[in-house]
Amino acid sequence: MENTKELSYRGKQFVIPTLSREGFIITPKKDFVMPEIPDDSPIIRALNKTWDEKEFLIPRRPISFGIIPEHEQQLFSRRGCAPRVLDLPIKFPGSTFRLPKEFAQDVPVTQRIANIEHAINPDCLDEYYCYFTSDEGWVEVGELQREAPCHVDGFQGERWKPKVRNNHTYTLGDVIPTVYYEQPFHTDHLDPAKHDYFWEFNRQVKETKSAHAWRSQPFELTMMDCYSVHRGDKAKVRVYRRWTRYSFEVRIFDRLGNAHNPMFDYNWEMVPRDIEALGLVPYDSNADASLNVFPWQALDGSPLPEGAPKTQPNLL
Ligand SMILES: [Fe+2]
Repeated sequence: MENTKELSYRGKQFVIPTLSREGFIITPKKDFVMPEIPDDSPIIRALNKTWDEKEFLIPRRPISFGIIPEHEQQLFSRRGCAPRVLDLPIKFPGSTFRLPKEFAQDVPVTQRIANIEHAINPDCLDEYYCYFTSDEGWVEVGELQREAPCHVDGFQGERWKPKVRNNHTYTLGDVIPTVYYEQPFHTDHLDPAKHDYFWEFNRQVKETKSAHAWRSQPFELTMMDCYSVHRGDKAKVRVYRRWTRYSFEVRIFDRLGNAHNPMFDYNWEMVPRDIEALGLVPYDSNADASLNVFPWQALDGSPLPEGAPKTQPNLL
């Protein structure tokens, strides 16, 4: 691919595209008709609050903003135009949304999200960054586009002191909707400096044999928060999938591998960051081995050979 930078650390490969300085400036539209949403959602109640892991006890279903219109669906699913990017900042505190021109197909959805944000979060929206992730490609039968344990986006682990406002995140995919686990998660027994919370989420989901799994619909725009435990789903047939994420955060995401947006003037020192480096251990080391390893590891913890299917947690 032209205009890309490749880098790798701890065995992970990243391809970072060089994006355009030209693009789309998006501001919320005030005449937007807001879709109806439940008025008792814990996600709305926790919006703008400071991280508090007791929230994991409260089951939460993502908020649905409906299925996007058909002409937007076709645009969204255009293949091979938008580069894959991870956590590209498209909004800074106080700024407009700025989408490099490579993502022309994402303008309507970005506008929709800007409108929704303005409607549900008029007081604090200005304090947030918005990070955009775009992924697309073939997903093989039985595999996930992005293999991961049951997890949350925007976790505030031991490193984050003091705790900051909760993350909330919009996602949209054209096929293979994400699975959310609408159940209480107990974390009182965990030590954030010692235990891997995501392995424990795997264990608690397996305890219920995934009985509380909930899936969104293809092209359904949803919003979750940093207490919404979820995981991708396996492809039943080989299929091409496009998926985007808009993550609203007050923190700087300076992880090496994240994309740079030339529509903003900033120069962050990007640093390697991954959960593996924290040396966390499972709370229950006797649990099914598949629950307590990283996707790139075999059941005994040794690295899988290159190209081997990733290890998946047995959640049934
Ligand atoms: Fe996620």
